Amino acid sequence: MDPRPQTASDRIRSDVAHNARVWNYWLGGKDNYPVDRAVGDQVTGMYPSIGEVARADRAFLGRVVRHLAGDVGVDQFLDIGTGLPTVNNTHEIAQHTAPHARIVYVDNDPIVLAHARALLTSSLEGATEYVDADARRPDQILRAAEPTLDLGRPVAVMMLGILNFVLDTDEARSVVRTLMAAVPSGSHLVLTHPTLELGGEGNAAAMRFWNENATPPITARSREEFASFLDGLEILEPGIVSCSRWRTNEREPAVAQFGVVARKP
Ligand SMILES: C[S@@+](CC[C@H](N)C(=O)[O-])C[C@H]1O[C@@H](n2cnc3c(N)ncnc32)[C@H](O)[C@@H]1O
Repeated sequence: MDPRPQTASDRIRSDVAHNARVWNYWLGGKDNYPVDRAVGDQVTGMYPSIGEVARADRAFLGRVVRHLAGDVGVDQFLDIGTGLPTVNNTHEIAQHTAPHARIVYVDNDPIVLAHARALLTSSLEGATEYVDADARRPDQILRAAEPTLDLGRPVAVMMLGILNFVLDTDEARSVVRTLMAAVPSGSHLVLTHPTLELGGEGNAAAMRFWNENATPPITARSREEFASFLDGLEILEPGIVSCSRWRTNEREPAVAQFGVVARKP
């Protein structure tokens, strides 16, 4: 057996489509393989608005981080299911507004780990850190975040497009509960999640295709299931909406991705 420890590159599989890389492809990025582009194109053929969903999700991230760092004064961010570095990553937006902001990124895809250096370009006053961990291990994530984030002060826990990979809804609820129990009053939870509502009914076949041909498997959730992640939290205006409509104008087309921001009282 080869005694060398496995590097991120050793763990990368180029024979099966991975969500982080297909998401990067839909966002116009270059960090993807032929298998990702092939599956990405097939999904787009079945569900043409998927590219808009991806772009709307990133735009939502930008508006929320600007609001939290600028208007609310949150200066710590735990961004789980970060994805590959792109333009306007969480730390760039947060530190543009609050240069001392501290950010911990978490993902479990080896390609994100391999590119993580691009996420670690912190301002001098602030800090960014990357943790290679599974969202289903919130205790491990909290332990790894502690050297960078002061969990005695408010934290924005961001889970954008990630709970949809925790297929069991009770487990997904438990992940959120564990994370939010570890942070104090004034902390915020930021979520996006695909749904077959909001015009997303056509996504059902595309998701089935994804689950047969790509990894990790995904699920959509109803508004009721999505709302159950917010138990005990105060939902900020305008509530649970299409992420494209969160604090934008009413004429913005809806995408089939819920977005919400909620505060821990
Ligand atoms: C749809 S992308 C979203 C990226 C980013 N949050 C955004 O909104 O643009 C989902 C990300 O979650 C990551 N992911 C999926 N399952 C995960 C898990 N169990 N633990 C950690 N990360 C996971 C994928 O590798 C991918 O980078």
